[in-house]
Amino acid sequence: MLDIKQFWSKLTKSKPVGVHTEGELLEALDRSKLPQHLAIIMDGNGRWARRRGMPRGLGHRAGVEALRSTVKACSNLGVKVLTVYAFSTENWKRPRDEVNILMNLLIEYLQKEVDDLHRNKVHIQAIGCIHDLPQEAQVELKRATELTCKNNGLILNLALNYGGRVEILDATRKIAALLKQGECRLEDINEEFFGRFLYTGGMPDPDLLIRTSGEMRVSNFLLWQSAYTEFYVTETLWPDFSKAQLFKALLVYQQRERRYGALKS
Ligand code: FPP
Repeated sequence: MLDIKQFWSKLTKSKPVGVHTEGELLEALDRSKLPQHLAIIMDGNGRWARRRGMPRGLGHRAGVEALRSTVKACSNLGVKVLTVYAFSTENWKRPRDEVNILMNLLIEYLQKEVDDLHRNKVHIQAIGCIHDLPQEAQVELKRATELTCKNNGLILNLALNYGGRVEILDATRKIAALLKQGECRLEDINEEFFGRFLYTGGMPDPDLLIRTSGEMRVSNFLLWQSAYTEFYVTETLWPDFSKAQLFKALLVYQQRERRYGALKS
């Protein structure tokens, strides 16, 4: 495997890091080695706003723009599943005003984007405890998911009121209920069986998890599914995460050797 310096010098020939155009990065991507499932922790909206002397809400609004462009790029590239962490089970601890801003941005995003996403064959899904979201958000989510449910393009999973531990507990409860009713046997419960009861049941595990803003935490995101996921952390704050940044992350991913605990082949 090339180390990152060798990789960059190979990619860039004579150019130093950071000066490639979006087009050059896109050109360098191997379309046959894209992640099937990309997950993103969109972090740093608040810091982005603070650095500009703006209220945090404007950071979140700028974050929606970065989401819009990332979804479009993933859809165009042919990524199969994109899961974005939009609101965690812990985010309710934020001030009520900020929670309201995030919920209103979600509603606005769905109202404005759904037709365009539908035209581009994006299949919108929501994962998390959706029934605890405000009524209006649930209505928009229902409309978006029903409208796009037959689309065969990018699956866009919006993780909302999502927590990895709660997801695992939910799956465990569902399986326990089946056991109790005699509808499954103890010996049926293996990793594949368990995975079917997660919110992501039927989807591949994430191949790549991107976290922006430099934080080195998994923050209760896709805990079961990320057992062998490749991690990519960038210092870039989420609102500044451009298509070029996405292509860079994908290029780095394409240099990784995935061994799943086995030895080098
Ligand atoms: C983390 O940044 C980000 C969130 C908690 C929310 C992510 C939301 C968006 C990108 C926009 C909303 C999109 C939809 C569809 C609702 P932070 O606020 O923790 O940033 P900080 O660590 O710099 O304070």
